[in-house]
Amino acid sequence: MKALVLSGGAGTRLRPITHTSAKQLVPVANKPVLFYGLEAIRDAGVTEVGIIVGDTEAEIRAAVGDGSALGIRATYIRQQAPLGLAHCVLIARDFLGDDDFVMYLGDNFIIGGISDLVRDFTAGGYAAQILLTKVANPSQFGVAELSPEGRVTTLVEKPKDPRSDLALVGVYMFRPVIHEAVRAIAPSGRGELEITDAIQWLIDSGEDVRPHLVSGYWKDTGRLEDMLECNRKVLESIEPAVRGEVDPASQVIGRVVVEEGASIVRSVVRGPAIIGRGTRIVDAYVGPFTSIYTGCTIERTEIEHSIILESCTIRGISRIEDSLIGKEVEVVQSAVRPRAHRLMLGDHSRVSIA
Ligand code: DAU
Repeated sequence: MKALVLSGGAGTRLRPITHTSAKQLVPVANKPVLFYGLEAIRDAGVTEVGIIVGDTEAEIRAAVGDGSALGIRATYIRQQAPLGLAHCVLIARDFLGDDDFVMYLGDNFIIGGISDLVRDFTAGGYAAQILLTKVANPSQFGVAELSPEGRVTTLVEKPKDPRSDLALVGVYMFRPVIHEAVRAIAPSGRGELEITDAIQWLIDSGEDVRPHLVSGYWKDTGRLEDMLECNRKVLESIEPAVRGEVDPASQVIGRVVVEEGASIVRSVVRGPAIIGRGTRIVDAYVGPFTSIYTGCTIERTEIEHSIILESCTIRGISRIEDSLIGKEVEVVQSAVRPRAHRLMLGDHSRVSIA
């Protein structure tokens, strides 16, 4: 069995972060979202992984490399434009050959892995198996309907009037017959080759498509709130460890990871929280559910329930909450008069001033 991991796409809902970076690399508890997926695939015993990449190819390659650090063998497949999930299967034909495969959306986050699904599929002999979960807002997802005997009967992508509350989670199991399906379908109204249409084609051709219900936690990390929620979930069960330096004037309380080379000086860090390599926390307060990545300086600042990417400087800010801050961002108090907010923000930035 092989895996096809989708890590292209545009990521409009996480702008401006995704103007310059891949959404699949935004860190959750200081580890890129994509790595959780690759580890789940590896843990299910699948090591040959094709990774679909788009404009952010260089960044994804730099992070994943040949995959050996994650226990997989990565092959990169370039998609010229985000033409749909089924288009990804189409262009991965040579890599996939005639193997069964698991398709995994690189921005999806699942706690509990996919080993059960892979086992179920291997034993079941179905043409395809899709991961489903009940959601409160089905019209934001692909939605499935099941027959009384438990087969999937219809699939609709983001329906206005959903006929069930069963959403498609971004993990799909396929036999090679899916290649026929992706060649047979036409682009949807939004101009994409939809994987839901390809699976519907299988159903309409008499193939057996089965659901696998997710029991654990799942999130599509496409939006800020979802990112913060995933971060919360992972930090809640993080193993506390202090590998960096904490001076005697500081307090580190609860589940806190202080990574190597990080230093906490005259500060309070109240977990769950993680402080990345080489980051300095000085005269500051870091509150629960905060992940601060590598090489940051947080000084005379209070911050809580936030994700900070690498090499940021935040100085003299009384309180930051519910925030996602991209790489190498500077947020500092100005000493210059007149006292005013001076902003240089990228396109689609969002600032909410207390
Ligand atoms: O998260 C679950 C949902 O994912 C499902 O319920 C939907 O049926 C499915 O279509 C998908 O919807 P999204 O709107 O969330 O898909 P998105 O455009 O965010 O793409 C998912 C991942 O696939 C993301 O990591 C980017 C990547 N991608 C996407 C497209 C359209 C590609 O690599 N190439 C593409 O052409």
